[in-house]
Amino acid sequence: MASGWAPAFTAVPRTAFLPDLMWPHDASAGRAVAVDKNADPAAWYGYADSDVPIVTQWDDGNHTGTEPGKNFTSSSSMPSVVFSMLADLDVRAGHRVLEIGTGTGWNAGLLAHRVGEENVVSVEVDPAVSEAARAALRRLGYGSLRVITGDGLLGHPPRAPYDRVIATCGLRSGLYPWVEQTAPGGIIVAPWGTYYTYTEATARLVVAEDGRSASGHFTRPVNFMRMRSQRLVRPEHSHYVPAQGTGDAEKSTTTVSEAEFLTGDLGVEAFAVGLQVPDCTHVPDRKQAGRRPVWFYGLTDMSWAVVIFRDGRDTATVYQSGRRRLWDEVEAAFRWWQDQGRPGFHRFGLTVTADRQIPWLDAPANVLETQKTPGEQGFSVVSEGGLEPPRPIKGTSTSS
Ligand SMILES: C[S@@+](CC[C@H](N)C(=O)[O-])C[C@H]1O[C@@H](n2cnc3c(N)ncnc32)[C@H](O)[C@@H]1O
Repeated sequence: MASGWAPAFTAVPRTAFLPDLMWPHDASAGRAVAVDKNADPAAWYGYADSDVPIVTQWDDGNHTGTEPGKNFTSSSSMPSVVFSMLADLDVRAGHRVLEIGTGTGWNAGLLAHRVGEENVVSVEVDPAVSEAARAALRRLGYGSLRVITGDGLLGHPPRAPYDRVIATCGLRSGLYPWVEQTAPGGIIVAPWGTYYTYTEATARLVVAEDGRSASGHFTRPVNFMRMRSQRLVRPEHSHYVPAQGTGDAEKSTTTVSEAEFLTGDLGVEAFAVGLQVPDCTHVPDRKQAGRRPVWFYGLTDMSWAVVIFRDGRDTATVYQSGRRRLWDEVEAAFRWWQDQGRPGFHRFGLTVTADRQIPWLDAPANVLETQKTPGEQGFSVVSEGGLEPPRPIKGTSTSS
């Protein structure tokens, strides 16, 4: 491990932080499966040592029994993702580090080994989760590492300024308090994305010398559980689309093909579209008899659109309704991404200021235009609590 994390990964094992009953992602089953250490220790250690995410809490703790719950709400992230985010963080001995999303406490323990437990503060929103993490850290000898129960979006001002901030839950907005609490030149690493798609990318932001903004490239795609307050309630289809069909929706066609538009779970094209089409989410429907609808729902009004791909046809049918023409916005953003040479995640970046978050391509001056009607707010928080956004139906990749 060129980044110097090997001793920490040896001294602070993941197994010390996992509960007896856990739900690792099983690749062959394509879902989380229950594993009990007492009933099947070999399976438990096998998963604990594998590069898979392991769910440790369902439904904000409102869950009993061994069957997986509805929504995973705390987990131990994939070790490869933990490692790559820590490598992005570029910590040095003695750095003061703020972690958001303590979860099991494993990442906090790794940080403590590297910079000293007195230099790490970790914030976890769920009281039961933070208590379990405190206990695990104590057992490993990190009893004075501060685990704060609270909303990590606020950071933790009493111990600021920090040299490094790392979030292990996904954000849509609200990073500025961390910018304010980080020293100039300090680094913030956080999974960030839009409501358009489940796919996120790790933002690696460097705080400006005047301390009033932070900017940097995305490093790689990730797929984290959202900040509690930034989960998206799945749009209720029947609230948008009339029961009798497409109603008075405007009809048109597009030459965008299903194969180029829906490439998979961690598709950069969906990430790129989401950067330019705020307040919209998309849900690819199941394919039946060679027909695949993809739905688009406005999140701040009741605009909707659907594109219907059919096998063997050169054009797809489009219906659009409401104040916005969501497919037109999405197609323009998608074509733009193609025209730019289909840039990957690492060519995009983000600048965060007190009142804006500004996505860009290649350099901060090359700001992305949003396709949205002028005057509308972008990247709003849609709801408090509620469900995870709809999952893309292709692929199974998860990292948190
Ligand atoms: C993927 S888990 C974190 C994994 C963890 N770093 C570890 O090493 O096990 C994400 C965690 O973020 C927490 N979380 C969600 N919203 C939060 C918020 N607003 N503030 C702090 N923690 C939050 C969740 O409760 C969950 O425990």
